[in-house]
Amino acid sequence: MAPAWSARLLCCGAYATLRNRCNTYPEVDVPVSPSPPASHAEWAALVVEGCAGNAGAFQLRLSRLIARLRREASPLANVLSRALADAHDSRLTLARDAASHQATLSPVDSESNLSLTTVQYPVHLDTPPVWTEQVEISLKQLIEEWRGAHKLLAAGLTPSRTLLLSGPPGVGKTLAAHYLAEQLQLPLVTLNLAAAVNSLLGKTGNNLVRVLAHARAQPCVLLLDEFDAFAKRRDDGQDVGELKRVVNVLLQAIDEWPATSLLVAATNHEELLDRAIFRRFDRWLRFPESSPAQVEAVLIGVGCSPALSAIVAPTLAGRPLSDATRLVQRAQRQVALHGQGFEDALLAQLAQELPAGEDVPRLLRAKQLKAAGWSLRAIGKDLKVNASTVSRLLHRTE
Ligand SMILES: Nc1ncnc2c1ncn2[C@@H]1O[C@H](COP(=O)(O)OP(=O)(O)O)[C@@H](O)[C@H]1O
Ligand SMILES: [Mg+2]
Repeated sequence: MAPAWSARLLCCGAYATLRNRCNTYPEVDVPVSPSPPASHAEWAALVVEGCAGNAGAFQLRLSRLIARLRREASPLANVLSRALADAHDSRLTLARDAASHQATLSPVDSESNLSLTTVQYPVHLDTPPVWTEQVEISLKQLIEEWRGAHKLLAAGLTPSRTLLLSGPPGVGKTLAAHYLAEQLQLPLVTLNLAAAVNSLLGKTGNNLVRVLAHARAQPCVLLLDEFDAFAKRRDDGQDVGELKRVVNVLLQAIDEWPATSLLVAATNHEELLDRAIFRRFDRWLRFPESSPAQVEAVLIGVGCSPALSAIVAPTLAGRPLSDATRLVQRAQRQVALHGQGFEDALLAQLAQELPAGEDVPRLLRAKQLKAAGWSLRAIGKDLKVNASTVSRLLHRTE
């Protein structure tokens, strides 16, 4: 039987069954609705999506139909929305099982035979990340949307499907993708950039298409890290044909991304991105430079005392948070090797990163007072130097 015919027949059958079931409820309780019943075309489209195996599109379309049935006061709305929520949960369970048993067959680059993705499940972070307030609010909202996805679907809505993370290096963009996968208990599928960017013309776009199709097929968090490598402006000059193709593949993928997986793209260079890309994402989260409070919390998180963290954090603020964690690790190694006190080891490691001959305690004090909002004059008074010396001191180490 031709697929179009089978779909149409199926659709008529499914629709008739659904309407009949609907009619078995006592008519009297159902208020008369002025809006027309959910149209045949929508049911037909639903069946076609189902037969074609487009789970994401099927789910979205069904949730819209449920919203419509609800407006029509059809008792079927509740039946279907419960079934949809159950199916959503069991699909997640299946994906989790698959990911924990195997590194889900990753597509490979046809030239190099390298895997185009790596899969991690379950994702576990050793120390909880520290976010700035704005980033924390956005991430929490997103997690809430995904945890309450069944409620959204029942209301004809979807959780945010695509997320763009931008900001300076080392502030936790890659970490945020891990954090989301951990919180949502989803496999984290990371695009292997080196394998995907194939020098052969046309292959990068093909690789990307395959990775996107792979990640759409099952619930996961797909991380496209260093996204600018793909999504460069189309007027960028070099390799225009291939670049255009890749950007178009991405634009289409973002538009059609299903609500069953979360696409996370991260970049340190938002200025390189094609302008058309930004508005396609459901959410765009810009990470600011690290703040003194954030560095302080990160230092405490990796084992520094609150007092030492408060002294050191203002000097490390504005730099990648990875500098703070690396500094602590280096100091811990020194302690283990030489039995030195941790505070001395940390300050000695920090001194190595500052201009030669810098008076470290004086600098730490100046940075700390500046972060506390003191004026240059007041800091100068405290350090017994004049304000211009303080200004030079602070600038020299920025
Ligand atoms: N918000 C954060 N909270 C705690 N640690 C962080 C945070 N951001 C970065 N780090 C530390 O820095 C490392 C590098 O961060 P990463 O996520 O790779 O930065 P980005 O992707 O923004 O360049 C992390 O593995 C972690 O040790
Ligand atoms: Mg990164």
